[in-house]
Amino acid sequence: MIPNSKHVPVLLDEVIKVLDPKPGEFFIDGTAGAEGHTAALREKVGLTGHVLGIDWEKTGENYADLPAILESKKLHKADGLILDLGFSSEQIGGGRGFSFQSDEPLIMTYSATSKSVQEILKELSEAELTKIISEFGEESYAPKIAKAIKAAGRKKSIETTKQLAEIVKAAVPENYERGRIHPATRTFQALRIYANRELENLQQALNNLETILKPGARVAIISFHSLEDRIVKNSFRDLEKSGKLKTLTKKPIIATNPEIMTNPRSRSAKLRAAQLI
Ligand SMILES: C[S@@+](CC[C@H](N)C(=O)[O-])C[C@H]1O[C@@H](n2cnc3c(N)ncnc32)[C@H](O)[C@@H]1O
Repeated sequence: MIPNSKHVPVLLDEVIKVLDPKPGEFFIDGTAGAEGHTAALREKVGLTGHVLGIDWEKTGENYADLPAILESKKLHKADGLILDLGFSSEQIGGGRGFSFQSDEPLIMTYSATSKSVQEILKELSEAELTKIISEFGEESYAPKIAKAIKAAGRKKSIETTKQLAEIVKAAVPENYERGRIHPATRTFQALRIYANRELENLQQALNNLETILKPGARVAIISFHSLEDRIVKNSFRDLEKSGKLKTLTKKPIIATNPEIMTNPRSRSAKLRAAQLI
């Protein structure tokens, strides 16, 4: 098992610039994690302001449910929202099986109450598994991988990340992606997205923007793969067309080379921001 490492917030200066937090304002961090962005927001809004930080793993709250969360906490609409999607560096090696870099139980869910990938793999048919790996992993070997997973599962239940990574590796050609990425990368991404309903949650949060944010409020979303980025881009475009918001980033903001050198996670990060009308 590799030790879980400290999480360095991605695109921090850029997020603060687009969110433009001012003293006394109220911000929501929907993916607080190690609180990197939360802390910077708290400093800017000061003692007269407020930052609500929620996290599906840490506080058991899903950002898709923000309207109900604000209501239950008797909080009014916010001046801004940040969502920094996916999992944090702290969760790698954190015992929930988010990565095949360490051998852990195959859970892969943020919430302790969601169904684990271990159970999901038992329940899905080969055809369903193929579709998930193909769509959410954009994996061209999905049929071969799904077949291998179901065949292996019939012999012995798949319980750890290492078991799954090895099954996937054996199902694809030796020179998979010319060694650029581990053969299990896309399959793990796909299963994580499916198990946590990540794309549905993101779409729901975007549908809720008007309910949770004041007119003039800012929203910043950092995504780490094209499926998420497409959802953010299309939702902002549709909301802009119906006169509900103004996109602040014509193109997504990406990390600078110095940031990528010190924080490799930032390499695939894309930040999009908008302001409610
Ligand atoms: C990339 S990390 C955020 C790191 C954080 N911005 C920081 O600087 O420390 C993403 C976090 O979002 C959480 N998460 C994932 N899906 C969520 C959801 N639907 N609702 C709330 N939190 C979620 C994960 O548990 C993880 O801690």
